[in-house]
Amino acid sequence: MSSLAVATKQLDQKGYLDLEVDPTLDLFEEIERLKKEKNAIILAHYYQESEIQDIADYIGDSLGLSQQAAKTDADIIVFAGVHFMAETAKMLSPQKKVLLPDLKAGCSLADSCPPNLFRKFKEKYPDHLVVSYINCTAELKTLTDICCTSTNAVHIIESIPKDQPIIFAPDINLGRYLVKKTGRDMVLWDGSCMVHEIFSAEKIARLMMQHPDALLIAHPECEEHLLEKAHFIGSTTGLLKFTQRSEAKEFIVATESGILHQMEKSSPDKVFIPAPPNNTCACNECPHMKRNTLEKLYLCMAHELPEITLPDWVIEQGRASIDRMLQISAEAGL
Ligand code: 13P
Ligand code: SF4
Repeated sequence: MSSLAVATKQLDQKGYLDLEVDPTLDLFEEIERLKKEKNAIILAHYYQESEIQDIADYIGDSLGLSQQAAKTDADIIVFAGVHFMAETAKMLSPQKKVLLPDLKAGCSLADSCPPNLFRKFKEKYPDHLVVSYINCTAELKTLTDICCTSTNAVHIIESIPKDQPIIFAPDINLGRYLVKKTGRDMVLWDGSCMVHEIFSAEKIARLMMQHPDALLIAHPECEEHLLEKAHFIGSTTGLLKFTQRSEAKEFIVATESGILHQMEKSSPDKVFIPAPPNNTCACNECPHMKRNTLEKLYLCMAHELPEITLPDWVIEQGRASIDRMLQISAEAGL
């Protein structure tokens, strides 16, 4: 986590996490009550635990979540996701209180691009425009011209004049995918997501032999060798929609396994197999996303802590890159 993230208000974080939740409480009921009482909205990423998804007001991918954060009229945004997502919501709605159930819910991809190192890297390419995947710190967004998500990345790159050189940060796998897809020769920062690089090519190949009719679907944060074998590549929302419209009955899903909850809910007649990791642990679960629990969500709403705060200069200098992304997405009908 960046120095900025660490500097965000950790007020009483320890104390409130130490609080015990009365086991007789119906947390679903309590959370619904707090939502109404405080005019709060819960935004949850698809990688959250199923029970958090079930109580959320909106479940989506990074683009959908930023769009909701920008337009909500709630007084409090409770972000069931990771730190960079809550920071983005704060940048888009600085007058609102933004809560994150566990401040330590970081992101290996965001951490792989420290702003001080990126600033030096950028100085080597003074004529380049910086496009950053939204999975980066608020401070990195101050060094970025346009943000993108996996849903709109191709549109964003294609909206930039062909003769304009580009630096793409921080995800090298998404970057390589975009170079291939758009034909643009971009300078890539060498960062990656620990969850999307853990899949085992051998185990997936074996699964595909065992399930010859299954389609392999993958998130573009996965490595190139896996993407080459995929029948479909898309953001979490893109993957979900593909499974809904596809006539196939079986899917091997190469992304964080939290998305399976919505896939199974919307297509109960289909079979979804999480792509196996290259070891025996549940490494296709994001440990950062999974730091949030229903108990922490309840405590965070009850105590309105921990809260995301950002220095004014970060909001002022970083917000334009997100606004630009939202504008291009709206023009493309995304
Ligand atoms: P999307 O939400 O854009 O699909 O990205 C996935 C991800 O890794 C979020 O952390
Ligand atoms: Fe970050 Fe990867 Fe977890 Fe997404 S899945 S929050 S990119 S570590």
